[in-house]
Amino acid sequence: MSHFKNVAIAGGGSIGVAFALQFARAGKAVRIFEQSPERCALIPGEIGARLEMLGAAGLLEGEAGVVAARIQVTPELHSAVADCHLVVECVPEIVDIKRELFAQLERHVGPDVPLCSASSALPVSRFCSELATRQRCLIAHPGNPPYLIPVVELVPAPFTDAAVVARCTSYFQEVGMSPVLVKHEVEGFVFNRLQGALLREAYCLVRDGVASVEDVDKVVRDGLGLRWSVIGPFETVDLNTRGGIAAHAQKMGPAYQRMGQERGQNDPWTDALVQDVAAQRRAVLPLDQWEARVEWRDRQLMQLAKMRKARAANDDAGTSG
Ligand SMILES: NC(=O)c1ccc[n+]([C@@H]2O[C@H](COP(=O)([O-])OP(=O)(O)OC[C@H]3O[C@@H](n4cnc5c(N)ncnc54)[C@H](O)[C@@H]3O)[C@@H](O)[C@H]2O)c1
Repeated sequence: MSHFKNVAIAGGGSIGVAFALQFARAGKAVRIFEQSPERCALIPGEIGARLEMLGAAGLLEGEAGVVAARIQVTPELHSAVADCHLVVECVPEIVDIKRELFAQLERHVGPDVPLCSASSALPVSRFCSELATRQRCLIAHPGNPPYLIPVVELVPAPFTDAAVVARCTSYFQEVGMSPVLVKHEVEGFVFNRLQGALLREAYCLVRDGVASVEDVDKVVRDGLGLRWSVIGPFETVDLNTRGGIAAHAQKMGPAYQRMGQERGQNDPWTDALVQDVAAQRRAVLPLDQWEARVEWRDRQLMQLAKMRKARAANDDAGTSG
C-alpha cells in the first residue's frame, strides 16, 4: 500500500481545482489553500458540477458526492498542508507571488515532502533558488484540465534531488496521470514549446494571407490533430513512410529545412540527430512490427471517425430539434 494519501493544493483557481478533482478521483484526500474568500465560496459548487459531468460521462469511479467529500477548501495555509505527502502550487504565474508562497510552504511543510509548482513557463530556479530545502522543489506542469489531459511535465532544477523527481513520478502515475521528465529547464518546457512552434507558424500563415484562421484550425481539427490524438509527431512520420523515420528524414528533410529557413530558423536534421531519433523509434517499434502498427493506427482512427460521425448526428438532431 502506498503511503501517499494527502495532497495540499495552493491556489484554488482553474488549475488548482482541476488538479484537486484528479487527486480526489483517485482516492486521495485533498485540501485546497485559497486566499480569496470569494473563490473559497465558489469552489465547492465548481467541484460538484464537474464531478456530475464526469459521472454522467462514465468517467468516475464511485459517487460524485463521495469524491467531492474528499476535497476541503481552507483560507489557512498551515491547515491545508498539515500531514500532506505532496504539495502542488497553482497560484498565478507571477514570480514574486510564487517566491513568497514557496517561502511560506518551506516553513510549514515537513522537509521530506515534495513541493511542486504547476507553472506553465517559469522554471523553479526562478523562485526556489534561495530556499534551504530547494532540493525538494520541481515543476509539475499539467495540460488544462488535468482531469481530462493526463500528461504532466516534471521539470527539475539543477538543484532538485533525483529521488524527489522519482517519488513525484510515481505519485502522479498512481493518480492516473502520465508524467514526462523534462531533463533540464527550458522556457515553456516541452508542451508549450511544441504548441508554440505550431502557433508561431499559424500566425505567419494568417499574416501572409496563406489561409484563414478557421482553415488553419480545420487543417489541425480534420487533419493533423486526428493522428496526434493517438500518436505523437515522431510516430506519425515514422508510420507515414515505408522504412520508418530515417526514410522520412531522407525524403522530406530538405523540404522541412527550406521551410525553417524561410522563417529564419537553421536547425538542420543532421545525420547524427536523425540516427539518434531513428534508434529511439526502432527501440520502441522494430521495423518488422511496422505494418501491424500502421493497422493499429488505422483502427484507432476508425474509432475516432465513428465518434465524430455520432457527434455530427447528435449536433444535427440538436439543431433541428
Ligand atoms: N490555465 C491554464 O491553462 C494553465 C495550464 C497549466 C498550468 N497553468 C499554471 O497554473 C498556475 C495557476 O493558473 P490558473 O490558470 O489556475 O490561475 P487562476 O488565476 O485561475 O488561479 C490562481 C488562484 O490562486 C489564488 N491565489 C493568488 N495568490 C495566492 C496565494 N498567495 N495563496 C493562495 N492562493 C492564491 C487566486 O485567488 C486564484 O484563485 C499558473 O502558474 C499557470 O501558469 C495554467
